[in-house]
Amino acid sequence: MPQPLNPADPAFARDPFPYYARLRTQGPAARVALANGSDAWLVTGYRQAREVLADPRFSNVPPQGAGRPKPDSAAQRARALLARHMLNSDAPDHIRLRRLTVAAFTPRRVDALRPRIAHLAAGLVDGLAGRLDRDGIADLVDAFAFPLPVLVIGEVLGVPEEDRAALRDWTYRVGSPADALEPGAVDAAWQQLYAYFAALIERKRRTPGEDLFSTLVQDAGEGGLDDAELLAMAFLLLFAGYETTMNLLASAALLLLTHPGQLALARRGGEERWAAVVEEVLRHASPLEGTTWRRTVEPVDLGGGTEIPAEASVLVVLAAANRDPEHFPAPDDFRPERYLGGPDRAAPHAAFGHGPHFCLGARLARLEAAVALPLLFDRLPELSLAAGPAELPYRPGLLVRGPRSLPVRNVG
Ligand code: HEM
Repeated sequence: MPQPLNPADPAFARDPFPYYARLRTQGPAARVALANGSDAWLVTGYRQAREVLADPRFSNVPPQGAGRPKPDSAAQRARALLARHMLNSDAPDHIRLRRLTVAAFTPRRVDALRPRIAHLAAGLVDGLAGRLDRDGIADLVDAFAFPLPVLVIGEVLGVPEEDRAALRDWTYRVGSPADALEPGAVDAAWQQLYAYFAALIERKRRTPGEDLFSTLVQDAGEGGLDDAELLAMAFLLLFAGYETTMNLLASAALLLLTHPGQLALARRGGEERWAAVVEEVLRHASPLEGTTWRRTVEPVDLGGGTEIPAEASVLVVLAAANRDPEHFPAPDDFRPERYLGGPDRAAPHAAFGHGPHFCLGARLARLEAAVALPLLFDRLPELSLAAGPAELPYRPGLLVRGPRSLPVRNVG
């Protein structure tokens, strides 16, 4: 009987890939016992991952009373309300919510954020350079990879500049494990965010801005989003957008600092090369390790003798699909060349998911990385890691993946 999988184990969190590779040898999906006493089906094959994500027999709606029962509190009620977003819904609800949001998230509007992203990233890189001058060492996650996505979501939601420090602080608290902060701090941050977004919606209704969120608020009403859906949407954009992009930026910096030849090629190679670096980081590091949980509404035969029963919890492990050797030769190597143009270009990675829930922010995330990474390394070309890669702490769990801190110094 194999040991139950403990996603909180620091060694697994840092390098889950050997485990996923072993699991893949048992078939494209395998039933796994988890350390919390439950069990789940983990999908590790690339082709099957895409099939599952496009198959309506795998539902996104969390079962009633999912997870451990939580005591009733204002923060708990806020959490429950905010969980009513499109990622937790199936068609036809999902189609309605997504259609309204896609209308606000057009490529033209996302691309228009480029100068603001460059401005915000330049400010953070200046701050990081200042810290390095002063202290000789700094945490790249804290100074760059975490704040940039939060500030960019601030732009998308039209959060005024003067409120961004508070947004950053609440987001940090809500995303921290409860035992890392003083008692009650996480709950208090949930309530503050909830109250803040409720007031923001009112404000956007009275005086709409140029931001994407104002468009959603203005389109609300007849057939549009109701107030609870708008609130849930603000939360979804914040949480789908910040931790994932933070992991993309942190993993990109780590991979480039540990592959100086690739960094030099990127710095010489211009936009196309940087775009290939971003794609390869997405594939290699998979900032979202697994998608959100799915539940089978009926038994599903995945072929090759793998049948998943009805009512099973299923996790599509994007990190495993993205290293499936049948689709990506030498999958554990970091090789941005795979995503340069030409007939040999690698298969598209699955880091942004697939099918009806395909990431709505993919264009924005790619833009953030493509703008911010060259800026970082042009301004700080002598940056180097100040800790061994094998010592870095990683986020626990099966859902997100990335270093929690990245100590750097300037060797120049
Ligand atoms: C590197 C950064 C990102 C990664 C790797 C990522 C990945 C993903 C993945 C895999 C999904 C599908 C999850 C599932 O099927 O269970 C998803 C959905 C979503 N993402 Fe992202 N994401 C990123 C950044 C963003 C950003 C910046 C935003 C918005 C500001 C965003 C908004 C969303 C939304 C709204 C959904 C739900 C779509 C739906 O249910 O139809 N994401 N993302």
